[in-house]
Amino acid sequence: MFEKTGEKKVMRDPIHGYIHVEDKIIWDCINAKEMQRLRRIHQLGGDFQIYHTAEHSRFSHSLGVYEIVRRMVNEIEELRVRLSDYEKLTVMAAGLLHDIGHGPFSHAFESVSLLSHEEYTCKIITENSEIHRILERCDVSLSKDVVDIIKGRHRNELLNQIVSGQLDADRMDYLLRDAYFTGTSYGNFDLERIIRTMRIVDERITVKESGIHSVEDYIMARYHMYWQVYLHPVARSYEGLLVMLFRRLKYLYQNDADSLQNVEMLIPFLKDTPAGIEDLFLLDEAAAFYGFARLRTHPDAILRDLSSRILDRKLFEYETVSDEARIEEIKHKALQAGYSPDYYVYSDTAAQALYSLYQRNESGHNIWILGEDQTVKELSTISPLVHAVCHEKLKEDRKVYYPKEIL
Ligand code: NI
Repeated sequence: MFEKTGEKKVMRDPIHGYIHVEDKIIWDCINAKEMQRLRRIHQLGGDFQIYHTAEHSRFSHSLGVYEIVRRMVNEIEELRVRLSDYEKLTVMAAGLLHDIGHGPFSHAFESVSLLSHEEYTCKIITENSEIHRILERCDVSLSKDVVDIIKGRHRNELLNQIVSGQLDADRMDYLLRDAYFTGTSYGNFDLERIIRTMRIVDERITVKESGIHSVEDYIMARYHMYWQVYLHPVARSYEGLLVMLFRRLKYLYQNDADSLQNVEMLIPFLKDTPAGIEDLFLLDEAAAFYGFARLRTHPDAILRDLSSRILDRKLFEYETVSDEARIEEIKHKALQAGYSPDYYVYSDTAAQALYSLYQRNESGHNIWILGEDQTVKELSTISPLVHAVCHEKLKEDRKVYYPKEIL
């Protein structure tokens, strides 16, 4: 048995009602400094610029994922019986810690840092951090086992599916949470019913056929949230500004590093070698915004302008494009208007398949439905709705962003 917290800890949560903690190791991880840092990182990066109430943090999402995992291993009878106490603790810790390596501003920042947030997550768990020491004190193999689950390669395939399958605790929490905090109604689905109808067959998590409508709802929630929130063009425009600002910072770091002395928190991320976990720890969004505020008075006009645009929400205009020629034309106009296209014309492509039948060689990463006759079928073979959308072609959206005064 693992050490308990004594009195059960409960935290109020608008999505789950309460988050319940009774394992000391989980409580200690929540109170570790790397976890507390996530309070200072927005769950949705710059989406609060579009949805003004999207102020929730990666901290609350992490607690939510932990809570769903905790419920799954306790309320799905086969998991409760089959998993050891150690496995339950490991997968709950993986749920709690799966996003610990996030930098500020979500994906925009990942285009700047040389390591992905997944790589930083694994480094924080396995290198010298408070989190690592807490896990090591409990069991010497715990940090490695937690990382194995987060990477989706734990020897017990069921544990991987709980944290990152097609119907996993991570997605179920962020869809509900992001819908709630953005005030959009599309992300809603019946989490209670999904958990209640989950069954384990061999090494797979399945959902009983009577729960199929709640799974269809979940698939549709994903689709709507992607287009309405995650791939929102204004959010992408904001991300574009951040990418451009960091591009200019990198250029100046190579050509005039002395001029960047008063934004020391950004320096480790401008180098050719990856920043360490201590550098990442120091760069939360509060630090980044403070850096941007200092850049408002920088001698370089591009840095001054881009940082002011970010802080004052003077975002780039955007339009949908289908060919390179239009982008070239906009670059040309930018040049004529005195703007460097390298820092003032940005383009991206968003694509989202509603339910992609991806299989990472394991059998576990589709959604499986358990029929009344006890046979297991892949969701799209029995849901006409999911079948129809699976055969839709990939929806693509290419956009170009630029200051509106150039046209
Ligand atoms: Ni997550």
